[in-house]
Order: sequence, then C-alpha cells, then structure tokens
Amino acid sequence: MPSIAVNSTPQKRKSRSHVAPSEAPVSSPCKRRLPQRCSNVSLLTSVTENDVVSIPCGHKQADSENVAAKLEWHCKGSEQLRVVKEKLHVSTEPSRIACREDEQNMVLEFCKACVEQEKAGSLYICGCPGTGKSLTMEKVKGLLLNWATEAGFARPDVLSVNCTSFVNTSDIFTKILEFNQSVGKKLSATPLKQLQNMYSQKSSRKNMMLILADELDYLITKDRAVLHDLFMLTTLPFSRFILIGVANAIDLADRFLPRLASLNCKPIVVTFRAYSKDQILRILQERLSELPYSVFQPQALELCARKVAAACGDMRKALCICRSAVEMLEAEIKESTSKSNTSVEEKASSELKTTTTSDYTMKHEFDTVRIDHMALSLSKTYRSPVVDTIQSLPLYQQIVLCSSMKHFCGTKKDTILGELYKSYTGICKSSQIQPAGFLEFSNMCRVLNDQGLIKLGQSREDKLKRVTLKVDEADITFALQGIRFFQNCLQ
Ligand SMILES: Nc1ncnc2c1ncn2[C@@H]1O[C@H](COP(=O)(O)OP(=O)(O)O)[C@@H](O)[C@H]1O
Ligand SMILES: [Mg+2]
Repeated sequence: MPSIAVNSTPQKRKSRSHVAPSEAPVSSPCKRRLPQRCSNVSLLTSVTENDVVSIPCGHKQADSENVAAKLEWHCKGSEQLRVVKEKLHVSTEPSRIACREDEQNMVLEFCKACVEQEKAGSLYICGCPGTGKSLTMEKVKGLLLNWATEAGFARPDVLSVNCTSFVNTSDIFTKILEFNQSVGKKLSATPLKQLQNMYSQKSSRKNMMLILADELDYLITKDRAVLHDLFMLTTLPFSRFILIGVANAIDLADRFLPRLASLNCKPIVVTFRAYSKDQILRILQERLSELPYSVFQPQALELCARKVAAACGDMRKALCICRSAVEMLEAEIKESTSKSNTSVEEKASSELKTTTTSDYTMKHEFDTVRIDHMALSLSKTYRSPVVDTIQSLPLYQQIVLCSSMKHFCGTKKDTILGELYKSYTGICKSSQIQPAGFLEFSNMCRVLNDQGLIKLGQSREDKLKRVTLKVDEADITFALQGIRFFQNCLQ
C-alpha cells in the first residue's frame, strides 16, 4: 500500500480521532451439502455426490431448512428465476463488495487524510473493465460521508462525473466551476482559468470537495493537456478538492503520469487487477448466497469463473454469462412444462401417483442451472477455438476423445494407452459400433496429440505410452453434445 501523501499546503491539523467506517459484517463460510446431477456433471468434475462443497453464505441453514427452501424454489419457478436474474444484474448493487477490501481501504484512507488535513490531493485509479472500480468508488463515497459525519468533520461536497457525458473534453472544467457556484464571475476567462485563479487565492469556501471523474480515458487529447490541467488544479495553494480519476486504460498512466511527475503532481496510482478465478467465484457465491435457495450447481459457477478469469477477469461478463445460463434453464423448464401438460391430459384417466423423494430430487435437479447450461452460455460469449477443432474431427477421433474424457473423469490424471483402449472399446460396444483395432486407435491418438487435444508420452511399446487429456472436459462436452451419437455417451 503506498503511503498516503496529500499535497503540501500548510494547514492546521485537526486533532480528531479516526472512526473506522461501518461495514456490513463479512459473511462467514458455511458448509452445505449440494445436490448433484448425475449426467454431464459426472463427466466434468471430480466432485462426487457425497462431497461437501464449501460455499460462503450469509446465514447457516439446517439441512431440513434447505430442503424446504429448495422445495419452495421448485414450486415458484418463474418468479424465483426472475429474482435470481435480478440478483445477477450488473446494475443491482451488491450488499457487500467482495475481494476489493485493500483497494477500498487505500482510497478511503487517502480521502480521510485529505479531509482531516484539509488538503487537496489526487488519486488515479486504473484497471481493465469490470474490475469493480466504479462500484468501489461509489462505496468509498458513501463511507467517506458517513465517516466525516461520525468523526465531526464537515462532509465534503461530492461531484461525480462520467467523462463520457462531455461533448468537449474541457467541459469538465465548466462542470467543476458550476459545482463551485462561481459561474458568471469572470466571463472573459475560460472555466479552467477561472478555476486556476480561484485556487490561487484564499477563498471563503469551507467544505472540501470530492471529485470523482469516472471514465477518465475520454479526456485524453493528443497533448493530454486536459488531464494535466485537471490534476494540476489539486496542486494550487488554495485548492480544496480531492480528485479521483478512474480509467479503464491501464497504459494511460504510463502516457501521462511522467509529465505530471515532472511537474511534481504525480497522483498516487491504485491499480485494480483483473479478478482471478477464485475471486470471481467468491463474488458470484456471495451475490447468490443472499437467496434462500441454491440455483446453480457449484461446478457450473466454477466453470464460469474459470473461463472468465482466463479470458479477462471482467465481472460484468461473468454476471451476464450466469444470467444467460439462468435464461436457458428457464426456457428448458417452459418447454418441459408444456410437454408435461400435454402428457398429464393424456394420463388423466390413469391412477394417481404419489410423489416420492426420488421424484422430488429429479424435479429439483432439473430446476438447477447445470454445467451444460453454463457451457452453452459461455460459448455464446467466448467461442473457443478448441471447440471448433473438436467439432471438425472425424467421428472416430471424436469417439476416442470422448472415451478419454470418460476415462479421466474423476481423479485419474493420466493413464496408459492400453487402458484407454479398453475404455474406448467399451464405449464402442455399448454404442453398438465396431471398435478400431489397437494399431488404428494408437494412430488416432497420435493425431489427437498433434492437435494438442491429448498428450502422448514416450515408450517403446505403444500400449505403455502415457496419455493425458490436454483440453477442458467442458469444451469436449460442449463440442459433442449436439451430435446425436454422443447423446447417450455424454449422459
Ligand atoms: N467485488 C465485487 N463484488 C460484487 N459485484 C461486483 C464486484 N466487482 C464488480 N462487480 C459487479 O460488476 C459490475 C461491473 O463493475 P464496475 O465497478 O462497473 O467495473 P469497472 O468500473 O471496473 O468497469 C458491477 O456493477 C457489479 O455488479
Ligand atoms: Mg466503471
């Protein structure tokens, strides 16, 4: 954490104590036993039906309560799906911002120091899109105002601007001037000049100002003059504003900070790094833990987190992908409801059935966002070249790949070619097709090895060569699920 440095206008320091910002308590992780669907999931993960999956949740629930909640989930399908989608909407403010505690504290402490010492200062926040910058800044704004009230400081006046809304880059100075309520004093001077004059003389303004300039990238001009002038305003002797500039471009700092440094007004830089897989998973779990029912299979959420982290770490994307997976479940439920309505009419005269636990389990698992929904949703966003490669393989090689996936499902990491051949012949027999001989099988494996889909080790004897799967099992399932031959194999 960089040391907090504010611009050095000599000011009297108020001897008031810091008050820690009041934060919602961090929800403690608790263990829930989650139901598993036996089909695709068994192919794709190493979590078994008896595994206990640790997911964070706001409150602990007994198993019986869980069952009741899940029953309720089944009963009210569409309304509950609407609530889930709302929870996952990017514009729904989460009750807690997970995984950004350090960045939030850094910015908050900086602002507090400025308010306490009545000194201007600037921060430069950067990071890729969807890394929680705007969300965190909004939170900091609220925390700072609460803190100021509780600690007995004058609440700073806050101006939040989104730089994309300006027609001309220099409009930001007009906006700041208007905020200072000084429009019309010196009409001949430009707004920038007026601000420079204002902050060069003692003024009667009491409160500090917090200026949050989001999407700062839009103020880049060829000579970067607007950005320089903006940050320079915080260095003037009677400047009273805390400037927080937020930008998506991570190289913007390299382009304009050196000159600010040479002018002795280099802002502190806080970088929001792309979210990792674990962070994305935690954020999704925390948002969903506010619901009294589990909607996603844990493996489905994990797949989403893994893919989004590998692509860009953009939380906005992760949320959209999850919402679209919910929509797929919704469509599936609608389709099956209309089918079952027809069959109910047909069966109207037949005897009444009692609902057994296994009926319930089947129904409930049907009402869960599964890994296949997620894989489909992900593929709409990021189509993987691996999927294309698998889909363009001849059917016999696809069968070899599918049997490798089945063979490796669970804990096995690698095997020998002889063993894999046994799995392959098993699949061929159960699908009533003639398996290739070992020599041909081993040649097909060599082709898959060349395509980077599996890895074959070295051995003088072919049957003893070690084999490892080099592609994601979810990619194989996704690539093959549309092919009729694999419908049973993938179950
Ligand atoms: N740490 C987080 N916890 C909960 N939701 C988050 C978090 N980070 C991002 N989000 C979600 O992702 C969306 C995009 O985040 P945002 O702050 O707008 O990103 P940025 O400004 O970096 O582009 C937010 O609206 C929020 O819904
Ligand atoms: Mg933003």
